[in-house]
Amino acid sequence: MENAKTPPKERIVMSGMRPTGPLHLGHWEGALRSWLQLQQECECYFSIADWHALTTEYVDPSAIRSHVRDVLLDWLSVGIDPERSVVFRQSKIKEIPELLLLFAMIAPLGRLERVPTFKEQKAQLNDRDLNTFGFLGYPLLQTIDIIVVGGNTVPVGEDQVFHIELAREMVRRFNQFYGEVFAEPMELLTPQSRLPGLDGRKMSKSYGNVINLSDDADTVQRKIMPMKTDVRRQRRSDPGVPEDCPVFAFHKSFSSDEEIGEVDAGCRSAGIGCIDCKRILIANLNRFLDPVRERRARFERMNVDDLLAPGNERARERAARTLDVVREHVKL
Ligand code: TRP
Ligand code: SF4
Repeated sequence: MENAKTPPKERIVMSGMRPTGPLHLGHWEGALRSWLQLQQECECYFSIADWHALTTEYVDPSAIRSHVRDVLLDWLSVGIDPERSVVFRQSKIKEIPELLLLFAMIAPLGRLERVPTFKEQKAQLNDRDLNTFGFLGYPLLQTIDIIVVGGNTVPVGEDQVFHIELAREMVRRFNQFYGEVFAEPMELLTPQSRLPGLDGRKMSKSYGNVINLSDDADTVQRKIMPMKTDVRRQRRSDPGVPEDCPVFAFHKSFSSDEEIGEVDAGCRSAGIGCIDCKRILIANLNRFLDPVRERRARFERMNVDDLLAPGNERARERAARTLDVVREHVKL
């Protein structure tokens, strides 16, 4: 059986994101950093899951198209390589709804209703009606995303584990009924992002505390400078505790070990001021973002559909092979 312990060469990595707008440093820490690494050693499929976006945005889907562009440009800008990895748009793969329909036949309603994220999301997004077939099917659609391209390894955060469990159960059920067609996919937990938002809470667009991968140098400066630091440092001469400061959390992700050591000591001894500390961080963030900006400038001039076309084609071919086998087993 395939699982996350599958040796890198036999791994088929599949992951995706819902296009909800520009990505931020939290996405880098929590997902993209791992994707880049996997891309070096494995066959990878990365999907922009626009049908998934539609499950909650069906009343007004008008923003989804520009969000697809945002996500694509962010991925390519950080170094996802569309020659190496299969980067595609979910809604271009018509084999996905075909396989979803077959799985819908065997998916127990009660099981879908018990997926914890289903209940939570429905309660949270109480400004809209999510009593829909499509929304109930969200995690089943994710199952299909993974298995239609033969994915056996799914880099995701902790919050997605319930969905990968469902995927395994659904694969087992399908294989029982129709024969061994699919490998049970395993999650590959991406490290929990230790990076907080600018205000110390979780970095999230809805909190307005993000640094986007597409922020320019001025914006980065404008966002970092007013950040609240450790409350102990009222005056320049007051020593602080770096663990209690979100600026330090950023240093831990974006500064060298040497600088982290200097900031840590300087904060505790009041050897450096918070302004100095932030200046170092701003420089390091820009050192990380500059090459991202350069790649973005290159891709920005290109047409989104052209950029996606080769990946769409490769994903489609892979999915078509899956469906050939599936139709045979289901005797259609
Ligand atoms: N549901 C995932 C999320 O919200 C996005 C997603 C869609 C996905 N299809 C996928 C993740 C396939 C992994 C594999 O983050
Ligand atoms: Fe935070 Fe740096 Fe100021 Fe310490 S010196 S409180 S780590 S900003």
